[in-house]
Amino acid sequence: MKAIRGATTVYEDTPEEIRLAVKELLNEISQRNSLSEQEMICILFSSTADIRSLYPAKAAREAGFIHAALYSSLEPEIEGSLPLCIRVLIFAETGAMVNHVYLRGAAALRKDLSKYSIALDGPAGSGKSTVAKLLAAAHNILYLDTGAMYRACALKAMKEGLKKFDEKNVLPLMQKLDLRIEYRDGKQHTVLDGEDVSEAIRRPEVSMAASDISALRCVREKMVEMQRKIASEQSCVLDGRDIGSFVLPQADFKFFVTARSDVRARRRYDELTAKGFSVDLAQLQKEIEQRDENDSKREFAPLRRAEDAVLVDTSDMTIDEVLAYIEKKIQEKV
Ligand code: DC
Repeated sequence: MKAIRGATTVYEDTPEEIRLAVKELLNEISQRNSLSEQEMICILFSSTADIRSLYPAKAAREAGFIHAALYSSLEPEIEGSLPLCIRVLIFAETGAMVNHVYLRGAAALRKDLSKYSIALDGPAGSGKSTVAKLLAAAHNILYLDTGAMYRACALKAMKEGLKKFDEKNVLPLMQKLDLRIEYRDGKQHTVLDGEDVSEAIRRPEVSMAASDISALRCVREKMVEMQRKIASEQSCVLDGRDIGSFVLPQADFKFFVTARSDVRARRRYDELTAKGFSVDLAQLQKEIEQRDENDSKREFAPLRRAEDAVLVDTSDMTIDEVLAYIEKKIQEKV
């Protein structure tokens, strides 16, 4: 069982305002913690002494929170405290890490809990996407795999039979690109022209093509715009090559995850053979090094460690160790 904290403010002490604010707060808590109403065991409210027109617990009951035990109390008048404020403490059946929610004027009470982004950059096979997925699940926030977007652009160009990836050939494709990133059961799905290509973009031949096409300005501009929009709407973990240095230079937490190329090749080899692809380890290492070179030498937004990104060399670390290290760095900064 976990305890989730939240608070909000009302603009004036009227029953309508209180109903609206309580409903908004509880819905936001449910959503950000993936909690159903049945999983909330008890909901305890307190409100500042200037709220007298409706008990928040009654507003919650009216909003459909009928299973949990509800309770409201009045806070003492304390000089300097935030006026017209409703606080809540929810006990809920959840194993996930909790997200406390502070809305409206109450956001000022916990500035550390507002929307945040975690940028994980690094070369192929560094382990960043595995860590990014686990990190997003632990924080109960969105994971955006930006590599998948460049892979989808490459797949589109391959499907159109483009031989040469240059601005002139690719720009018309970008102008009519129908690419959507969707989330189902907490998993990212890459949808190109209405078709789910999440598996197809993992094919080894798409990897090199993605590296090539991602060097083009017309491709990057379009992808970066989509990535910034997604990141502006919610807390998320993004992994890629240029997240901390270009897409979100203001990201709250930045990491540069890397590993020796032989280790990275071995990881990709294990991953691809497990999926049934037949690949050659030495060839894979050569391709990975070629991709590193491509991605770091390109002119526009190359793969590079942002000055303020924490370096994580995962060559001799397990995924659990990497995750623990990154979590520790995040907690130190909060
Ligand atoms: O992470 P990945 O292997 O799925 O990425 C495929 C290619 O996409 C990679 O070689 C470089 C490019 N890429 C990029 O340029 N910028 C990003 N933010 C993510 C990927």
